[in-house]
Amino acid sequence: MSDDGDTNRYIRIRGDQAELGMFVHAVHCSWIHNPFWRRSFLLISPQDQALIHESVPQITIDLAKGRGLKVMAMADSRDRDDPAPPAEPPAAAPEPVVAIRPRRRKPPTELERAAATAERAIAAVTRLFAEARLGRAIRTADLLPMVEEIAHATSHNGAALIAVTRLKDKDQYTYIHSVAVGTLMMGLARHLGMDDDDVRVAGLAGMLHDIGKMQVPAEIVDKPGRLTGEELAQIRLHPGLGHRMLLDLEDLDPRILDVCLHHHEKMDGTGYPDGLKGKEISRFARLAAVCDVYDAVTSIRSYKRAWSPHEALAQMLEWEGHFDPAMLRAFIACLGIQPFGALVRLHSNRLGIVVREGESPTTPIVRSFFDVPDQQTLPVEDVATSGDPIIRAERGEYWFGEGWPTLQAEIMAQVAVPEAPRHHLTRARM
Ligand SMILES: [Fe+2]
Repeated sequence: MSDDGDTNRYIRIRGDQAELGMFVHAVHCSWIHNPFWRRSFLLISPQDQALIHESVPQITIDLAKGRGLKVMAMADSRDRDDPAPPAEPPAAAPEPVVAIRPRRRKPPTELERAAATAERAIAAVTRLFAEARLGRAIRTADLLPMVEEIAHATSHNGAALIAVTRLKDKDQYTYIHSVAVGTLMMGLARHLGMDDDDVRVAGLAGMLHDIGKMQVPAEIVDKPGRLTGEELAQIRLHPGLGHRMLLDLEDLDPRILDVCLHHHEKMDGTGYPDGLKGKEISRFARLAAVCDVYDAVTSIRSYKRAWSPHEALAQMLEWEGHFDPAMLRAFIACLGIQPFGALVRLHSNRLGIVVREGESPTTPIVRSFFDVPDQQTLPVEDVATSGDPIIRAERGEYWFGEGWPTLQAEIMAQVAVPEAPRHHLTRARM
């Protein structure tokens, strides 16, 4: 299936085949590695072309809006969303006739630029929150250029930006967390197909969501270790306090107010301050809840270690009733990171379970145990997915029925080689 159902118009090509004059309809990589802020654009800048060559595996081009490759023997590489991955590695797209100019060396300053953006954003949030603590007027307009810069910087080096925010002093936690949540919210909003304006609102909402903490005593907000009941009650006032602070501002998008007030609501109604349930919680607040908790649990605090991304997502999936399941699934897809325990298919057409950290969050160690073409169980083997990439997530229940949780636990504990599933032979996975 093509992006728009028109297989002649949209063509998927390798990133290093991108040429000036092409109209980029879609960039195929996780948002964190996506070097572009806008979803589609005419490729006219040599710098953008170099970025695609360097960091984007594949793009879809729109032949109605821009040029194509000079050789279009592309029948096998047309953009598609085939539910069944190929048994063989996908055929490489043909080389273009026009020689691609040599790759430019990755600009050595990219990490510094991302770091500087993070520093500026954290500084801006710190200044704004300090004003708020003093009861002075809040100038959210000061954050808007930061939102733009972060949108741009995450698009050019999202992984670097988030890595940089992780390295900062834990005393700055609230400010760093605000910038990180804004960044994640922009990424998820973009992943959900929201327009540029909504993405900016998401970024600003993320940066401001915890501003109410400025009216809670700092010794409680920054207290290492467990809070007393009274302290917890004070912390839980921060959404309402922040909402009141922002309410005074003119022209603030109501969705930002809503995120501030409702980012601690839970789908089962056990959140605060209003105990909203399910769809009573707005889409933006549900989006914020996922990003807020993910950043909190993956951050180092003085009283706790940081969870790994795989561990955080696995735990969040376990917290039934907390998050909007569809939003959490979208977030997982948007990060391109699989939780521990997730069933995945490898490029070698084996099924396996994510069991350990790998070289990077997107390349964990997977314990393979099932061969798809042969429909046979295999001796368990831990596979580095940096060499045998994950090509898709799979549903354990689909493949292994009700016995999946038991099988999953056995494989993860390495206590047994799995038995062949009873019904898989009758189910084509196409
Ligand atoms: Fe909060």
